[in-house]
Amino acid sequence: MSDRFPAVTAPLRAIFDESERVLSRIFPPRWNPLLNLGALGFFFYWIVVASGVYLFVFFGTGVNKAYDSVEYMTRDQWYAAGLMRSFHRYASDGLVVVMLVHLLREFSLDRYRGVRWFSWLTGVPALVLVYIAGVSGYWLVWDKLGQYVAIVTTEWLDHLPFFGQPVARNFLSPDSLEDRFFTFMIFIHIAIPLIALIVLWLHLQRINRPRIDPPRGLAVGAGLALIALSIVDPAVSQGRANLAQVPGAIGLDWFYLGALPLLENLPGRATWSCAVAMLVVVGAAPWLPPLKRPAVAKVDLANCNGCTRCVSDCPYDAITMQPRSDGRPFEGEAVVDPGYCVSCGICAGACPTSTPFRRMSALTPGIDLPERSIASIRADADREAARLTDETRVMIFGCMNAGVAEACRSNAVGVVSLNCSGHLPPSFVDFVISRNLADGVMIVGCAENSCLNRRGGDWTRDRMERRRDPCLRKRIPDGRVRLIWPGRRGLAGLRADVLAFSSELKSMGAFRPGGARRVEPVKPNISGRADA
Ligand code: HEM
Ligand code: SF4
Ligand code: SF4
Repeated sequence: MSDRFPAVTAPLRAIFDESERVLSRIFPPRWNPLLNLGALGFFFYWIVVASGVYLFVFFGTGVNKAYDSVEYMTRDQWYAAGLMRSFHRYASDGLVVVMLVHLLREFSLDRYRGVRWFSWLTGVPALVLVYIAGVSGYWLVWDKLGQYVAIVTTEWLDHLPFFGQPVARNFLSPDSLEDRFFTFMIFIHIAIPLIALIVLWLHLQRINRPRIDPPRGLAVGAGLALIALSIVDPAVSQGRANLAQVPGAIGLDWFYLGALPLLENLPGRATWSCAVAMLVVVGAAPWLPPLKRPAVAKVDLANCNGCTRCVSDCPYDAITMQPRSDGRPFEGEAVVDPGYCVSCGICAGACPTSTPFRRMSALTPGIDLPERSIASIRADADREAARLTDETRVMIFGCMNAGVAEACRSNAVGVVSLNCSGHLPPSFVDFVISRNLADGVMIVGCAENSCLNRRGGDWTRDRMERRRDPCLRKRIPDGRVRLIWPGRRGLAGLRADVLAFSSELKSMGAFRPGGARRVEPVKPNISGRADA
């Protein structure tokens, strides 16, 4: 799959790669915030909800009560409700920041097209709802900022032909604003996040085991950062609202209110057209133009024993187990939903019947990709091995999304393309080494923590490090297998890794099944980090 907008996605991806590298110096690998954006979004969401419930207990619902109640919380109860107010504010800011970065990251990784349209499209209303909830929160304080936000947003709404009476009319004078209208705003501020939660639930419907909880350390760190911010720079009000006066100079929260000066100063028709056009373009991005989809995974019942490995490894929940339809004595059979399948091949990599040790004529696994079958991978491996004439031979199994493996082909290096690193059944590594097709195997993925297919990199590492079935057989010394995520190091980096790996293999000598464990390093470096 090639990017649709490389001029935009390539620099964006480079920025993400670089930021990830910098953050990886500060955070342990699993805690890197860029790898946990969706989970951090949920984390901030729950903080906003919990702190909001607490604040509601003290909140005075009414035009004349709201400001005083918020002042009471901020000044008299600064150590509890005041802190909670700041916590609420900064968690909301955190939510909007991670949401926007998450959107950009999914876009840069090209994870929004084809059947992934569903997560993308449901993300758009989530984004709008988070904004509406945030903006409406500023009204409720009913200070000068609240007054400004209320007037600008209602005047903007009044450009729409839906309202019989202008909504901004409510803010003409102190007498025109009724408690009822204020109660309505509170309702909006509570109902919208709840609707957003339903939309977020939908957002994850096509994702297998979505990461919605950040690692504990990251959650604790993010929570402490919010507390520190709340203490150092507590949220305060900006003077009581007074509808008899136009609010003067006020400070804006740029995360939510950055667009308000534009709404205030540009013609309503232009800003509405711009906002709608932006939403339509973002929402329609997965179809601009539609992605040509490869054939989806296909189950061969004669070879499916109902083990469920493909179900648990499929990153997009595309496989379910159904009652057996062929009368064979297995509990169930795998069934692929074509509407969910991204043709990554991870299921074929998980299937115990995808083994190259079977006769070529019988090499039809329980599940396979019609356009890149396990048999064709085996045929390519055989063909590439036959070509290698160098003393030390490396076989690369490369994810085609990485796009660099093919360029390494030489008389010392064979290259076999995969749809994803997770497409490779570990038995292929065993096959290549134990049948002496090459001296070592390199598996080249697209990016270590940013796999196009969400979990391809994770499952490959776990399978090769023997933590996840199907595991690499123990007779293969770890030193003869290397996982590489070229990432931003690109072709030059990969070539350097191949050279280094070849010289290690050379010093190991030929593979001998019985004596293999003797040449194994103490703690083998099975994973080569992109920036190692
Ligand atoms: C409050 C806001 C949001 C939250 C909490 C959130 C959360 C998540 C989570 C937890 C995942 C699963 C990540 C994984 O396990 O791999 C996810 C996936 C995704 N999100 Fe969001 N999201 C939000 C907003 C958005 C927005 C605004 C967009 C874009 C318009 C978006 C686009 C996507 C896409 C395309 C995926 C699927 C990626 C894939 O197919 O691998 N999300 N989101
Ligand atoms: S090809 Fe990928 S998305 Fe499709 S069923 Fe297999 S694992 Fe799931
Ligand atoms: S992994 Fe293979 S054998 Fe197991 S359920 Fe899936 S298709 Fe069937």
